[in-house]
Amino acid sequence: MNNDHGFATRAIHLGYDPMAHEGALTPPLHLTSTFAFETAEAGGETFAGERAGHVYSRISNPTLDVLEKRIASLEGAEAGLALASGMGAITSTLWTLLAPGDEVIVDKTLYGCTFSFFHHGLGKFGVTIRHVDMTDPANLKTAISERTRVVYFETPANPNMRLVDIAAVSRIAHDAGAVVVVDNTYATPYLTRPISLGADLVVHSATKYLGGHGDLVAGIVVGRAEQIADIRLFGMKDMTGAVMAPFNAMLVMRGLKTLRLRMDHHCTSAQEVADWLENHPAVSKVHYPGLRSFAQHELAMRQMDKPGAMIAFELMGGIEAGRRLMNQLNMIGRAVSLGDAETLIQHPASMTHSTYTPEERAEHGISDGLIRLSVGLEDVKDIINDLSQALERPHLAQTA
Ligand SMILES: Cc1ncc(COP(=O)(O)O)c(C=O)c1O
Repeated sequence: MNNDHGFATRAIHLGYDPMAHEGALTPPLHLTSTFAFETAEAGGETFAGERAGHVYSRISNPTLDVLEKRIASLEGAEAGLALASGMGAITSTLWTLLAPGDEVIVDKTLYGCTFSFFHHGLGKFGVTIRHVDMTDPANLKTAISERTRVVYFETPANPNMRLVDIAAVSRIAHDAGAVVVVDNTYATPYLTRPISLGADLVVHSATKYLGGHGDLVAGIVVGRAEQIADIRLFGMKDMTGAVMAPFNAMLVMRGLKTLRLRMDHHCTSAQEVADWLENHPAVSKVHYPGLRSFAQHELAMRQMDKPGAMIAFELMGGIEAGRRLMNQLNMIGRAVSLGDAETLIQHPASMTHSTYTPEERAEHGISDGLIRLSVGLEDVKDIINDLSQALERPHLAQTA
């Protein structure tokens, strides 16, 4: 099995040979914290990196190895590292890359806890954070300097769906000597492969589409082998200790087997829901890369194989109408997170992005009336019917 095989084939087989494991079709679960050495000398050599082998599961574990190889291959990266959560992946990566006095340039829109980590976390340790609207790469060109160590962004961004041109931004960052880190959680490697477009490191909340079933919390970072080794042996091992549990690695691998199938279904349904929402009189604005009305539709078509399954929208009646809509839903779950089989709806200003102050949200393009919808795998007619009955109940119609 190698990188010439197709996406779905690699998602199912790569990095594992059943014949090396008594024919077990799925990778064994190595539930062990530590690994025995044949001799004291062998232990010393393994610690010194002179001999291949595992030492302790906060550093590496054979079950995680398979997952790491699989995701690295799907992202077109040399190596991968599995972590306890998306935030574990983001923080372990940035603690490794940054030192006091460095500057990071981040996009205007970030997931709430990522925003909080940069703004309230790293800022306390002598790292300067600058927000730049990267939807226009020229803004980055103006802002970047030799002090800029890292350029960080999400595309599509959580929650307002703004896209960043990965190739253009990576060129500008590299000309200034900065490392480019992309959060690819919304797109997944099935829809966008940032490394092939010039990014250096890709982080994921594997809690979302990669796991795909809402039953775990997990994170991933992929990149060049040397960078990943640094993040493993410093950021993860010493700074955060945010290692993924082997059982979660097994669940993420189970999710990966159907990633292509799920994403195809998610995307087809999301397009249908977005089209329907756009034509509904109670809806004032729909942000979905697959719509012609989406400001960055052309970039979406160029950079994403399909437009994904996250939709942001606003109602004529603003946040009050949004709250009523959420409360009237019968099937769609009022919950944060995304990428699950279940369709989920939430209100970023009071939930996932409440880490921003109201002024910061206004400045960063997260309106109070914005509603975020993660389109699930149910029959699309049932998703639309649920939204429809909730929007069309009498007092909502009046608000519209
Ligand atoms: C875009 C994005 N990145 C990172 C994270 C953090 O991931 P986790 O919740 O797995 O720590 C999230 C969580 O919602 C997210 O939406």
